[in-house]
This record gives sequence, C-alpha cells and structure tokens, in this order.
Amino acid sequence: MSEWNILLLPGDGIGVEVVEAAVQVLDAIGARYDQHFRFERRLIGGASLDAFGASLTDETLSDALEADAVLLGAVGGPKWEHPDASDRPERGLLRLRKGMEVFANLRPVKVYPSLRDASPLKPQKLEGVDFIVVRELTGGLYFGEPRRREIRNGQEYAVDTLEYYEFEIARVIQVAFELAQQRRRKVASVDKANVLESSRLWRKVALRLAQSYPDVTLEHVLVDTAAMKLISSPASFDVMVTENMFGDILTDEASVLAGSMGMLPSASLGVEFPKPHVRRRGLYEPVHGSAPDIAGKGIANPIGAILSAALMLRYSFGLEKEAQAIERAVERALEDGARTPDLGGALGTQQMTQAILERLQ
Ligand code: NAD
Ligand code: IPM
Ligand code: MN
Repeated sequence: MSEWNILLLPGDGIGVEVVEAAVQVLDAIGARYDQHFRFERRLIGGASLDAFGASLTDETLSDALEADAVLLGAVGGPKWEHPDASDRPERGLLRLRKGMEVFANLRPVKVYPSLRDASPLKPQKLEGVDFIVVRELTGGLYFGEPRRREIRNGQEYAVDTLEYYEFEIARVIQVAFELAQQRRRKVASVDKANVLESSRLWRKVALRLAQSYPDVTLEHVLVDTAAMKLISSPASFDVMVTENMFGDILTDEASVLAGSMGMLPSASLGVEFPKPHVRRRGLYEPVHGSAPDIAGKGIANPIGAILSAALMLRYSFGLEKEAQAIERAVERALEDGARTPDLGGALGTQQMTQAILERLQ
C-alpha cells in the first residue's frame, strides 16, 4: 500500500462542494486499489481573506509545497470583488501557481458521445472532439511588470504588461510536443504574431523546437482564428499550446463543446515531460470558478473536480489504472443518463457523485 499526502484547498462557493465530491471518489478508489490518500484541508481565496486577512498565507503555500499534490476547488465571489481591494481571492490562486512553479496547465477537452445533445453545437461537429490545451500558467499578462493604477494627467490610468522570456515559452511548448507524441502528433501553437512582439518570440521558439520533433506537425494559428475554429472545426485539434491569457479565454469557450463549464478538469505541472508513471508534484483544479449563482444549492456539477482527481492520480502518482477507473465511471454514469442541471438533468451534486461511485470498478 502506498501513502499519498493530498492538500485540499476547497476555496469559495461551489469549490467546497465539488472538492468534497472528489474526496469521496478518491476514498473509494483508495479502498478498492489499496492506496492510502491522506487529506489535509486549508483555506484559500475569499475564505482565507475572511479568516486571516490574506488570500493565501505563507503557511498554506508551504503546506502546498510539501504535499504530494494539491486539489483546489475555486476562488472568488461578489463579496470580495471591490475594484479597489488590495487583496483579492484570485491573487491567492495566482500566488499558489507561481509559488508551486506549475507553468504548464493541461486542460483536456473531450466530448462524451452521450453528451453531444448537451452542447449548443450541431452533434456532427462534435464527433471525435478530443484535444488538450496546454496553457502557460506562470507568466504573461498575469504576472508582468509594471502592473499598477495611478493618476496620470488628471486621469485614472492603468497598465498591465505582457512579457515572456524565451525559456518560459520553450518549456511549455516542449510539454505540448511531448504530449502530442503520445497522441495524434499535431501541435497548434496559438499566438497573435501579426500584432504582438511577445507572440513573434513565441512563434520563433515554437519553430526552433519543432526541429527536435520531426514526427509532430506544427501549425501556427492566430488567436482570433483559433477562437473561430474551436467552434467551426473543433475535431481538427489535437494539442493546442498558448500563452496564459489566451489559454484562459479559449478553454472557457472550449467547455461549451463538452456541454458545460462543470465538465473540464485541469492539471498544472512544473516539469517539462508529463510522462505517466512518474511521481511529481502538481496542482489540480477544475476549470470552472466558484459559480456564485448556484453556490450553496447543492447542484454544482462535480465532474470537473472528479476528473481533476483522476489527472492527479495519473500525473502526480503514476496510478494510471486508478485514473482510468475514475474516467470510466464518469463515462458510464453519463451514458446511463446521470445529469446535473447544467447538463439538462435534475441530479444534485451528491446524487451525481453517487452515480459515479456506483460505477467505479
Ligand atoms: P464561473 O465559472 O464560476 O461560472 C460561470 C457559469 O458557469 C455560471 O453560470 C455557473 O453557474 C456555471 N458553472 C460553473 N461551474 C459549474 C459547475 N461545476 N456546475 C454547474 N454550473 C457551473 O465563472 P464566473 O461566474 O465568471 O466567476 C465567478 C467567480 O469565480 C469569480 O470571482 C471568478 O474570478 C472566479 N473564478 C475562479 C476560478 C478558479 O478558482 N479557478 C475560475 C474561474 C472563475
Ligand atoms: C481559471 C480562472 C483563473 C485564471 C482566475 C480565477 C484567476 O479563470 O483558472 O481559468 O484566470 O487563471
Ligand atoms: Mn478561467
């Protein structure tokens, strides 16, 4: 039996509800496959602001660095949204990502055949949609300096900076190439090289790296075109790699293909080569936010969080068989018609989780 220390950061809103669902699934997997998952819970985001006056404390960051893996729910909400607030829930999440140095955020987008009717797209467009977005997570506009607001010429003025060093681009594009080699061998590098200097550097680095992966086809797609192609020909993508902000926006768009924001998981890793079967630290979180509109109602879709737990087993613990067991149980529950309201059904979070637990083998 192996022991794994998992730090839970449920956060705010539905983050708390979906993380508890994922814990139930991990407990069931542990019992079935003789693995021992030990959980510690800490606050982050608005909950941490309320309790400690900081969206992420140094203690919690150091607990995250010591854990074998971190499972996070979501942060944020209207209570903490004042534009002049000095700390914000989202800042804690960004500090966590930066502090853990998890620069590669993997966001798989898969359309389950049984969910084709849950998407507003025509079912034939959704056939064969199975791609992964590799989003740069610790650079770009989210962290660039200068970033501030001040009064200039009697006006309120604000600046953010989009900056990248070559090494930051190279290491994340390398992850994309390595992943593509395990898949359909196609990388779409998404940029805005017709306008942005940082994108021209991005493209140059992608072209250089492509020489080391002659078996992988590289195409460059401008971000506006990529947004269009995600809807008009989503099945054409295999691995998409892009900078932080573009990746944030495009993955919310991509969630529509899967039927709901509540479906998408993510894995954030700090190493160049995401090989299965190698133990490494990672941060796992669903792509969705704290969903204040449905928080506390017990109707959040837990699948994004549950599939994030599966990615944790695969990428941080090397437990491939256990990861697949979770993914298959989710697929079977959906095939059998289990649906939360966001997917057009009436099951609550707990009932949906139960449906998945019953199908774990
Ligand atoms: P959101 O993702 O929280 O919600 C968008 C819409 O999708 C809402 O209608 C919501 O009800 C629905 N939705 C999201 N997840 C769902 C789920 N699991 N099941 C069913 N429906 C779901 O985005 P938002 O409303 O723009 O943001 C709310 C707050 O969340 C903001 O403070 C934002 O900063 C924060 N946020 C946090 C994260 C994160 O922690 N990783 C991600 C995105 C947004
Ligand atoms: C996400 C979220 C975060 C981001 C926010 C909450 C900081 O939207 O994980 O996609 O923009 O990265
Ligand atoms: Mn987002």
